[in-house]
Amino acid sequence: MRKKIVAGNWKMNKTADEGLALVSEVVNMVSAEVTAPVTVVVCPPALYLTTFKSYLTGDKLALGAQNCHEKAAGAYTGEISAPMLKSVGVQYVILGHSERRQYFGETNAQLAEKVNIALENGLIPIFCCGESREMRETGDYVGFVKNQLTESLFHLSAEQMANVVIAYEPIWAIGTGLTASSAQAQDMHFALRQHLAGQFGDEVAQNTSILYGGSANAQNAQELFGQPDVDGGLIGGASLKSRDFLTVVKAA
Ligand code: G3P
Repeated sequence: MRKKIVAGNWKMNKTADEGLALVSEVVNMVSAEVTAPVTVVVCPPALYLTTFKSYLTGDKLALGAQNCHEKAAGAYTGEISAPMLKSVGVQYVILGHSERRQYFGETNAQLAEKVNIALENGLIPIFCCGESREMRETGDYVGFVKNQLTESLFHLSAEQMANVVIAYEPIWAIGTGLTASSAQAQDMHFALRQHLAGQFGDEVAQNTSILYGGSANAQNAQELFGQPDVDGGLIGGASLKSRDFLTVVKAA
């Protein structure tokens, strides 16, 4: 049975006091209102991970990081390693977000190394993939996204892949308010699940949670998450307002 997951990617937002207020609201709301079997992952800026760990307890709440370096330690100023994340109780780590591919030049090969070290340290990667507007309009966007999985994940064993979560985030929908239609999301999620089945077998493919991200919000989450191959969401802007985020969580 694959898990329903809703992860809030706070990106570079919230000061310390604002973040504490938000995570407290989210925790209280999830505890009081969420009865369905969904995992809620809060992914704040790395600065807050140790503080937030004590808030995100129980079987419904989890702590996630927004990135990790591909090396275990060393002279990488400003970076954070998977062992460090594990040491403070982080459970999930977003890898390959389009903003990191765009602004920091992360490649599929580099992300394969990040996935490896995350798994080696017992972290659950939330592996991001997705095409640009130009690719969607002019190119083989399905083949492009499939290749992101091939180059970064297909070296894994089936046992390793069983610990990976996928997040399909069409770049043209991120932060734009231009959400993919539920049909567009379902079509890609289905294609990616089939692609996983070809490499890892039906059982792993059917049990892999594939999340949708890209302007998912309180208004559209119900329809998006109602699609058979959409197993939840990776939420940006809507995760920064507790009531909106809870509405999204309850739609999963
Ligand atoms: O990682 C989630 C993010 O990229 C989606 O952002 O603001 O479109 O929900 P947003």
